[in-house]
Amino acid sequence: MQINKERNWELYYQANEMLWDHGEASPGLVDFLSSSCNKMPLGRALVPGCGRGHDARELAIAGWDVTGLDIAPSSIPMAKQLSTNKGLNIDFQLGDYLTKKPTFQFDLIFEHTLFCAINPNRREDYIQATKKWLKPNGKYLAINYIITDDDGEPPFSTSAEELDIKFQPSFNLIKRWIPRSFENRTGKELMNFWSLK
Ligand SMILES: C[S@@+](CC[C@H](N)C(=O)[O-])C[C@H]1O[C@@H](n2cnc3c(N)ncnc32)[C@H](O)[C@@H]1O
Repeated sequence: MQINKERNWELYYQANEMLWDHGEASPGLVDFLSSSCNKMPLGRALVPGCGRGHDARELAIAGWDVTGLDIAPSSIPMAKQLSTNKGLNIDFQLGDYLTKKPTFQFDLIFEHTLFCAINPNRREDYIQATKKWLKPNGKYLAINYIITDDDGEPPFSTSAEELDIKFQPSFNLIKRWIPRSFENRTGKELMNFWSLK
């Protein structure tokens, strides 16, 4: 039996070993924000599992009022410092996306490499949390890591079929596409844009 391991993310920040962190925003998000097809009105955006905040800053530069949330205490001062360096005012909060009581409901949630970071036995909690953090009719934009196998630790595997089964009861799929990716993730990512029913 495969045992899915919980990861202590804080240790990676303390050791300065954020191998997932490319030092810049996700290419898929950059393209989405610059696309003329993206006619979403601006509002408040949440980036759960924001890490050092590259995606949060990209959204803020695009005009969104952004909150970043992460469970690892050391990620928060790093995200704040990088944002201050760029003259950006972003609300970074420490907390568990799955259990924290939302302080506000958001127009948009953007996530990259959080769903795949969370133990698969908590995916229903993830969906309930996403519903809780969104305004009615709010939008959920995710870059999902589509891999069929994992070794019992993050990134955990998923498929488009699983996403449909889990999200479609509560969300309408607006659009799905293969995004531009960091080189080491090319062909492994799928971008999903959903609207809360
Ligand atoms: C693989 S990293 C990705 C970080 C960032 N999204 C990026 O792409 O650079 C996963 C992040 O999710 C955070 N995380 C894991 N579980 C979380 C939870 N339940 N609530 C909030 N953040 C969480 C970790 O601390 C870590 O920063």
